Amino acid sequence: MSDDPTHVREFFGARAADWDSRFPDDGPAYAAAVAEIGLRPGDAVLDAGCGTGRALPPLRAAVGPSGTVLGADLTPEMLDEAVRAGRGGTSGIATLLLADVGRLPLRDDALDAVFGAGLISHLAEPVADLRELARVVRPGGRLALFHPIGRAALAARHGRRITPDDLRAEPRLRAVLAEAGWRLVSYVDEDARYLAMAVRES
Ligand SMILES: C[S@@+](CC[C@H](N)C(=O)[O-])C[C@H]1O[C@@H](n2cnc3c(N)ncnc32)[C@H](O)[C@@H]1O
Repeated sequence: MSDDPTHVREFFGARAADWDSRFPDDGPAYAAAVAEIGLRPGDAVLDAGCGTGRALPPLRAAVGPSGTVLGADLTPEMLDEAVRAGRGGTSGIATLLLADVGRLPLRDDALDAVFGAGLISHLAEPVADLRELARVVRPGGRLALFHPIGRAALAARHGRRITPDDLRAEPRLRAVLAEAGWRLVSYVDEDARYLAMAVRES
């Protein structure tokens, strides 16, 4: 499934207000995924499709006060909730951008890493959008594609079965990432989490 931006905005706009209360126990899984990126103090990181900003506090903890944390999302209601939860605005945790990750207001090589949770299946143009994420990350920088539930468990929750043409399936993801300037370096798809890690090719 891929989504056009209007549909994404409508879908997540309607779910923003109770997004965090629907998934109250995910915090440790987000923190563990962020820990695997290998961020260092002073690094610059983007949470792509940040939603209500659940990953922003662990990202800030990883890069410290001298680092840069950005959160980008195209659904204004999600960003409003991030501010309400104290994860954006003047909180000092992150700077929030109302932006499509396929067209980011960032210079080339500006970032050390991108984290994207629950994002890729919603991208309208996965290769072009992932290429835009590669543009803003320095060579050797990282991309972490995360979900706090694996593909099979998520499909079962929605009454579906997983299929090999799913963008998140390893062979397809590896090929799409390669086309977009990323090299897949690790891939975990377990019931309790999905985490694909890629490195920006030079
Ligand atoms: C499943 S939610 C996940 C939100 C958050 N990352 C989390 O883990 O709680 C997907 C989010 O991605 C955003 N999104 C989808 N496509 C996007 C795009 N092309 N650019 C920016 N945000 C996008 C949606 O608005 C939504 O907030």
